[in-house]
Amino acid sequence: MNIVVVGCQWGDEGKGRVIDLLARKVDAVVRYQGGSNAGHTVIVGGEKFVFHLIPSGILHSGKKAIIAGGVVIDPGQLLKEMEDLQKRGISMDNLYISASSHVVMPYHKDLERWEESLRGKGRIGTTGRGIGPAYADKAARRGIRMGDLLEKETFKEKLSFNLKIYTNLLGINYSEKELLEKFLEYGKKLRKYITDTSLLIYELMKKGKDLLFEGAQGTLLDIDHGTYPYVTSSNSTAAGVCSGCGIGPRSITKVIGVAKAYTTRVGEGPFPTELKNEIGNLLQERGNEYGATTGRPRRCGWFDGVALRYATRINGLDELILTKLDILDPLDKVKICVAYKFKGKLIQDFPNRFIIWRDCEPVYEEMDGWREDTSKVTSYKDLPVAARNYVKKIEQIGKVPIRLLSVGPQREEIFATP
Ligand code: GDP
Ligand code: IMO
Ligand code: MG
Repeated sequence: MNIVVVGCQWGDEGKGRVIDLLARKVDAVVRYQGGSNAGHTVIVGGEKFVFHLIPSGILHSGKKAIIAGGVVIDPGQLLKEMEDLQKRGISMDNLYISASSHVVMPYHKDLERWEESLRGKGRIGTTGRGIGPAYADKAARRGIRMGDLLEKETFKEKLSFNLKIYTNLLGINYSEKELLEKFLEYGKKLRKYITDTSLLIYELMKKGKDLLFEGAQGTLLDIDHGTYPYVTSSNSTAAGVCSGCGIGPRSITKVIGVAKAYTTRVGEGPFPTELKNEIGNLLQERGNEYGATTGRPRRCGWFDGVALRYATRINGLDELILTKLDILDPLDKVKICVAYKFKGKLIQDFPNRFIIWRDCEPVYEEMDGWREDTSKVTSYKDLPVAARNYVKKIEQIGKVPIRLLSVGPQREEIFATP
């Protein structure tokens, strides 16, 4: 089985904890896009792990953890993450890094900072990790790849060319010598992990091994299918797996979506079901909705069924895992957005124009809340009836079967639906 796990909202749906669960049954876990903008949390016992570049599956010893070519890598950040995990007893022996993944350079972060300040009120609200400029260089065919860090001459030539561009663009005098030394040193430290991951994945598949593809960000942050320009710079939808790993689409057996029982968004951009009121605050506090990467408060709102239906379509979802149902426990009433209204017209399908995302009114179906503690519930049949009705409504609106439900961040706080 080759299973893809994707976020169905604007990221932070709980993909990390889902990967941690599903990783038990596979031979390898693969990150295929994004970079250290991702923050995937796994809680094991009393211990919290937050993964940025390394696949969350690395906690399971003996499983291969692969960073494929579609990822952009900040080597300093990666080495730090590796060291932190090693200090906590996690082995890096099974880590593989694609030679064709692109390197995030310091000038990418400088350009991003400058661009965000120029945008002012219209800023994207990026994670500041240099992700956009790194992907832009890749598309402009001047990007530096991880494999280049292993060959001094190639790296020097590429760096020198890039510095001509960035020095002019930013008016910053980068020291070529310092950057050369620093990044060649990174290359030296990472050499033994750098390989052809497309071939590795192909060979694993040929041997009939099971793979899990760990999406970062979410459907609505996809560069092509998200709420552009308030998106990230990669294909965070299921389609990104093929280009990001170098595998054919027919090798994917199953696509699993992850959605939170409400909606959050970190950074700027349209958010039709946002709640700027005490309910929004309650979700933020109860859900501890603060970015795992930047610590920024996440904006919160009602569940958006129109967006889920879109995620079902765009990713070809086979099933859904719904997380954080417990956060809604104290509410008297819960609402699900079932359509949008724009200029008096009802919209059933997620629109593809900025002005509609920004100005539409959500149309809600209101349901009774359950006002019971679900955090100790361990089986579907023990959920309050109102909570089951809420889950069924999400399935119906989203046009996707919900297979698993989580009511707490711990490994075992998740159970199947009938
Ligand atoms: P990811 O980026 O999709 O992996 O999600 P994040 O790790 O950024 O954010 C999800 C947060 O919710 C993490 O802090 C998880 O520990 C937490 N979490 C996940 N599932 C549940 C759940 O069912 N209930 C509660 N209360 N917390 C959860
Ligand atoms: P995980 O994998 C939530 C958001 C940023 C910003 C936009 C662009 O943990 O779900 P970028 O730095 O990517 O250029 O920022 O995307 N963003 C995320 N939001 N979860 C993430 O990752 C995100 N990665 C990027 O806040 O709005
Ligand atoms: Mg996250």
